[in-house]
Amino acid sequence: TTGMVTLDPGYTNTGSTTSKITYIDGDAGILRYRGYPIDQLAQQSTFIETAYLLIYGELPSASDLESFTSRISRHTLLHEDLKRFFDGFPRDAHPMPVLSSSVSALSTFYQDSLDPFNPEQVELSTIRLLAKLPTLAAYAYRKSIGQPLLYPDNSLGLVENFLRMSFGFPAEPYVVDPKLARALDQLLILHADHEQNCSTSTVRLVGSAHANMFVSVAAGINALYGPLHGGANEAVLQMLSSIRSEGGDISSFVKRVKNKEPGVKLMGFGHRVYKNYDPRAALVKATADEILASLGGDDELLDLAKQLEEIALSDEYFIERKLYPNVDFYTGLIYKAMGFPTKMFTVLFAIGRLPGWIAQWREMINDPMTKIGRPRQVYTGYPERAYTPAADR
Ligand code: SDX
Repeated sequence: TTGMVTLDPGYTNTGSTTSKITYIDGDAGILRYRGYPIDQLAQQSTFIETAYLLIYGELPSASDLESFTSRISRHTLLHEDLKRFFDGFPRDAHPMPVLSSSVSALSTFYQDSLDPFNPEQVELSTIRLLAKLPTLAAYAYRKSIGQPLLYPDNSLGLVENFLRMSFGFPAEPYVVDPKLARALDQLLILHADHEQNCSTSTVRLVGSAHANMFVSVAAGINALYGPLHGGANEAVLQMLSSIRSEGGDISSFVKRVKNKEPGVKLMGFGHRVYKNYDPRAALVKATADEILASLGGDDELLDLAKQLEEIALSDEYFIERKLYPNVDFYTGLIYKAMGFPTKMFTVLFAIGRLPGWIAQWREMINDPMTKIGRPRQVYTGYPERAYTPAADR
């Protein structure tokens, strides 16, 4: 049997680890970044301030936040050769592999400053990644709609800059809608870290081999792309849209889920850790009505989502399996109302999760107890047997 392998200190071969960054209580539905409850951060903080908290461990003073913000804004531009990278992708390329490959490629421009054990270079990589990921993400979107790539405008904040590079036009000034910017800022806070989830564990595993921060994050982006992980926010919209297009019969869809029809899951439901309502989903749901009302979102799909949740939460099948909405269940509806296509939803998740990946990578690389990640297995194959020549097989 798999049983519990004894835990080594630091990075254990079971893939679990010690960390001071994020605390989750799956049964109580608690999530805290560096001790601060997620609802207080979502309501009172900003994404860039939360990024500082996750990475450096404390909420910044006003002057520290100002210097952090201005350091980031000086690195939002990409090397012109990297911009040309986007010419090579097919027009309908999914932006997630575009993002992961361009983040890997980004590291090729900084090969002389990627030493994971040089604090100045780790700081520079931190600022470069935080600054350039939104630019890369906006460019992946613009490439997919055949529109020109806009240079960053550093008079804008990180989120406003991303919105302008995504939705702005070269021919006319783009005025960022403050409601849109605040809504996206809050969603990014909710996604900023989540303990040892699949993509963060990937970032730690790759980094534990002393690979640099950029390629470790690129690996995390690839893990997040999976529909069971960050790709679920895209899958939820596809699920809701197909229920609607097939006449909106929620009960028959739920029956298909319960019959475990291949490929039919209640996307946006369930969690490896939360066996209660995901606190992030509750926060998104609470603001969804208000945000969709102000942005003119698809209320029909929101109503469908709420009906689906209501039916599921009263159905023994989901109750006994402790399946509740997770962070991906409602977020896609808001991203759609913001004007993003479903293909961009997981890219938005990646922008949000980046500070967490960076914080966790730095914690891992600075932990003297960290060993290279090397999970063991329970061997269930053949016992020893002798080789037989092809003529005898
Ligand atoms: C994220 O880890 C993190 O922190 C991730 C994340 C983060 O911030 O990084 O929170 C982000 O990835 C959220 C999850 C997004 N994924 C989805 O919404 C995809 C749909 N959900 C699942 O596929 C599933 O719930 C997982 C992958 C999230 C969890 O899978 P588990 O751990 O295998 O689920 P489980 O062991 O709790 O399942 C128990 C039972 C099983 O049925 P039985 O074999 O007991 O009969 O519940 C069933 C599962 O088949 N089940 C589902 C289901 N999720 C679990 N049945 C229908 N629909 C679902 N969504």
